[in-house]
Amino acid sequence: MDVLMSLAVICLVAVLGVGPAAAAEPASGAAGNALKDIRETLDAGKKLLDEGKPGKAAARVAEASQAIEALAAEGTAPTAGLRSLWERCRSLRNDLELEGADVSGISRAPLKMGTAKASSPKPAAGKPAGKPMDAAAPAAGAAKPVAAARPAAKPAAKPALTFTAQVAPILSRHCGGCHIAGRKGGFQMVSYAGLMKSGMVQPGAGESSRLVETILSGDMPRGGGKVSPEDLGVLMKWIDAGAPFDGPDPTAPIDGLARQATAPPPAVVPTKPIVAVKLKAGDVSFAADVAPVLLEQCSGCHDAMQPEANLSMVSLERLLRGGRGGSPVVSGKGAESLLIKKLKGAGIEGQRMPLGKPPLADDVIATIQKWIDQGATLDLLTPKADLETLTAAGRSQKLSHDELKKVRFQAAGSLWTRAIPDEKPAVIERGDVLVVGNLSAAKLEELADTAEAVEGRLREEVMGGKPPLIKGGIVAYGFAKGYDLSSFWQTAFSDERPKGVTAVAGVLGDVVYAAVVPPAGGKSLGEKPSAGKHDGQTDASALLAEQMTTAALLGRGVPAWFAKGAGRAVAMKFEPKADLVEAWRRDLPAAVQRCGSPADFFGGRGDPVAMATVGGGFIAAIMPSVSRLEALVAQLDAGTPFDQAFASVVRGQPQPLFEAWAAQQATRGPRR
Ligand code: HEC
Ligand code: HEC
Repeated sequence: MDVLMSLAVICLVAVLGVGPAAAAEPASGAAGNALKDIRETLDAGKKLLDEGKPGKAAARVAEASQAIEALAAEGTAPTAGLRSLWERCRSLRNDLELEGADVSGISRAPLKMGTAKASSPKPAAGKPAGKPMDAAAPAAGAAKPVAAARPAAKPAAKPALTFTAQVAPILSRHCGGCHIAGRKGGFQMVSYAGLMKSGMVQPGAGESSRLVETILSGDMPRGGGKVSPEDLGVLMKWIDAGAPFDGPDPTAPIDGLARQATAPPPAVVPTKPIVAVKLKAGDVSFAADVAPVLLEQCSGCHDAMQPEANLSMVSLERLLRGGRGGSPVVSGKGAESLLIKKLKGAGIEGQRMPLGKPPLADDVIATIQKWIDQGATLDLLTPKADLETLTAAGRSQKLSHDELKKVRFQAAGSLWTRAIPDEKPAVIERGDVLVVGNLSAAKLEELADTAEAVEGRLREEVMGGKPPLIKGGIVAYGFAKGYDLSSFWQTAFSDERPKGVTAVAGVLGDVVYAAVVPPAGGKSLGEKPSAGKHDGQTDASALLAEQMTTAALLGRGVPAWFAKGAGRAVAMKFEPKADLVEAWRRDLPAAVQRCGSPADFFGGRGDPVAMATVGGGFIAAIMPSVSRLEALVAQLDAGTPFDQAFASVVRGQPQPLFEAWAAQQATRGPRR
């Protein structure tokens, strides 16, 4: 607990920066307009980049970057707003650099704040530790050594305004009918994450945020309601303070948060984390028997973006969390579960499900009911896996390696086409690896060589020499450009590719993939002059070792934090001299400081670049030799659940091990 607290405080220090300049001030009208102009310039830059015009895009971003610096020097604009724009500039700078644009006009120095406002310091109380860490990266550079700041920073941990207790109820009460349950005017805010994505909130600039503007102008709420000045004040102050989030899950429905905040909390039993378990004879398999039904019959309406009744069925986790009426699944009690009642259409409010379609066959309903009766268990992958992937995993159990390979390699092309419809990829098959990409022929060949070599080595050292690395083989995507990976990311995760991320691994439907933008040859990534074989190919080999390991582990259903951390740890072992690996090592102390609480690490929240570095360092520390990973994989393949396999191989539990490791890193402090 102590470590948890101090970690939270470490991160708080990183978010706040040091000194009064980091406290939030409301935007004055003129500064608000200036911020808006800059935002629009950046939007234009992003658009140009997406259109494949990096040169023009760079000019716009440079313009914005200079405007931010000027405004910061003046010291009249809200710091948090400036910082978030500055961060966008830096993120675009990375993307532009990847596209080969001239980015010399875009500064990447930490933002220097003017002193005009520093004379009226406010207590740094606005920001709870839950805020995503990356938004404040420039401030982190200025942070004092952690150890010194720790005790003093403690009182700041109490947030003045919270989203869950104060903001969510206001939004739900005044705007909910039209913008949470509905999507009037194309604007919907089902969750905090959705609200922030809508662009209606500009952190740090309450007054000039569209959400507030529409209320100030009297346009909203429609339908005769009125937002009291007190409530409006809460909204503005919260946005001015950077619009932080304080709950455990930014994708939780706002309606649900509001209900929790306004109703006395029922004495809920803390829900156990869901983990995949081995089925007993006669058990219903969620992956093979239930997920396919939900996927086909329900997920069209109960989707991720605008789920009917706020009930999304994208994953088991999301299904169990429930919608307007709470969880539709009462574990162990099928007949009492709303899910079953809605399928039977008896004793319910509203409609029988699936709405507008014939009822499900009795035996199908009986199977789902039995699955709930047996405890609504998960038998494959993770509770976060999307239903499509779970369905594929259920199906793949029944296929042989070669049959599955056929299915997988075929699906690999369809997935590419979904992501990048206007460019047909080239394909090279090498044993159990299928390389798919739009690189030049020579580069794709080089990538295939590297992938094949990496696969051989992984099979040998991590899988104990027993083919295959993963049943059904692996797909390696090689993208020529950062924006190809961005398109892929959009397809795979319905999200923007995070800045600085040039590779990813995952399981999507039938495809188990490692995707990379191969580093250019020569000195594109490292900053030091090259010595020996530090070149693009070594970096590519490290990237592939990382992502292929991660893919093979994700395909075995281990939690993402472990799959990613182990992938990176393996890459560090395989290519210790790669520039990329040296950079990871160098960045570790700073990344540990920037990472969130252990809960953030295990939940996969926070800046993905820092989290990957932290994960690699952590796994490398607890699994100092690759043979430990080999032992773990052998147990997984024998059907041992991950938690048990981990405990027996590493001799400890993830969370305490992580806390101890992080504490040790923090006391060690920055090193070169
Ligand atoms: C009774 C329905 C209703 C309620 C309640 C309501 N809105 Fe709206 N909202 C609309 C409609 C309709 C539009 C589309 C407006 C248009 O296109 O003229 C809209 C559009 C918007 C937009 C986007 C349009 C723009 O001009 O940028 C925002 C932001 C917005 N509403 C905020 C709010 C907020 C904040 C609340 C709660 C305080 C709220 N609304 C409550 C019906 C409603
Ligand atoms: C055509 C769209 C559509 C399809 C398909 C659909 N639903 Fe629904 N579902 C809705 C709507 C709209 C509501 C809210 C109205 C209601 O409860 O009658 C809803 C509500 C529900 C609720 C109640 C949620 C709550 O918290 O109140 C459950 C449970 C549910 N659906 C389950 C299912 C299941 C299971 C399937 C597939 C077998 C399914 N739905 C298919 C549209 C759909």
